Amino acid sequence: MNKVGVRAIMHDIQEVLNSDPSKYINLSAGNPTLLPEVYKMWEDSLSNILNNGELGNIVSKYGSSYGTYELIDCIREYFYNNYDVKLERENILITSGSQNLFFLALNSFCGTNDKNDLTRALIPMLPDYAGYSGVALEKNIIEGIPPLITKIDNHTFRYELDKESFLERVMENRDIGAMVLSRPNNPCGNVLSEKDILFISNVCSELNIPLLIDSAYAPPFPAINFVDMNPILTDNIVHCMSVSKAGLPGERIGIAIGKPQYIKVMEAFQSNISIHSSRLGQRMVADSLQNGQLPFISVKYIREHYKQKYLTLKKALTIFMPDDIPWFLHCAEGSLFSWLWLENLPLEDKEFYNKLKEQNLIVVPGNSFFHDSYAVSMHARECIRISLTATDDDIMRGIEILSNVTKECYKESISISTS
Ligand SMILES: Cc1ncc(COP(=O)(O)O)c(C=O)c1O
Repeated sequence: MNKVGVRAIMHDIQEVLNSDPSKYINLSAGNPTLLPEVYKMWEDSLSNILNNGELGNIVSKYGSSYGTYELIDCIREYFYNNYDVKLERENILITSGSQNLFFLALNSFCGTNDKNDLTRALIPMLPDYAGYSGVALEKNIIEGIPPLITKIDNHTFRYELDKESFLERVMENRDIGAMVLSRPNNPCGNVLSEKDILFISNVCSELNIPLLIDSAYAPPFPAINFVDMNPILTDNIVHCMSVSKAGLPGERIGIAIGKPQYIKVMEAFQSNISIHSSRLGQRMVADSLQNGQLPFISVKYIREHYKQKYLTLKKALTIFMPDDIPWFLHCAEGSLFSWLWLENLPLEDKEFYNKLKEQNLIVVPGNSFFHDSYAVSMHARECIRISLTATDDDIMRGIEILSNVTKECYKESISISTS
């Protein structure tokens, strides 16, 4: 199969890094850093399971396709105690990671229906997680609305929801089967306000479709949010969580919370394609929720770690990037990533990526996060995603390279235009 878009880029990045891992500074990674406190938490959970003689029972038996009652009840209790939200077991589905959750949801609620009409998934504000396009079984399912761009100061900007264009698109053709967005956002670190979420949710409610809120970076775990935010649950929101960025990507645990009508459809799909998620992973997560470690470690160590990384990155950009080049960093509100916009970049993001690669620096070009909906826009070709998972030293050295390449690119374009 021919790889396109983000798959082609990710494949290229993987090949390059595998060819000589020590040669490159990797500012592209999406794998969370395994902090010592996080490792200890999972090690303790596993030890408890072994010491209590539970392993045999856990790994040698199939279970419910909804997930284990133990984990489901832990989540109900957590939401009741911390958010005053009363959930029934039927409101919760444990999936094999949240990527799988989006596969189940988008292919259940979107695609060709029995009248042969195509219903699509709408992303209310681009850019957003490239993995949504990857999960759709049919072509042209994912569509997104370009953002409004607000410059905050000389080197900071923020995306805002373009409500007018969003409403126009929704009303123009009643072909939307679901909406999806990440909050905090991968790639740009934006956190849509509660007001914006309720506005989108109201529109979804009028259309009688689910709004999937991808909370892979949100509180209570991994809590990589730098602004205040809480889960938002309305009648049509499916709140989607993951334990991956809290150090457990290998165990594949995702959590969907929503009304039974939506959860049931996804559960039926899951029971057909994979039966259920890992029971060992579910037991470990239940253990770390019961003893309070997962939310505690998330806020105290994981959030702080990435906040510090962001400050290091900002410092590196301030030191190395020239002031007279129009570079803008998106406001840091959460997630594992920073998002850099190089206004009027004289070449496309993919070519820029190749130039950085020649200098042994790997970042992710931004275009794929616009899901083809915004392919004609200059802006979509002027951004790169920088991972906050690297060491301080790599961030510093990487940004110095980025700065040198950026200067060269803008200088070449000025000399070409004046010659
Ligand atoms: C925004 C977002 N959603 C979902 C996922 C998938 O995570 P997982 O399937 O490990 O839960 C990722 C992974 O990088 C992500 O960044």
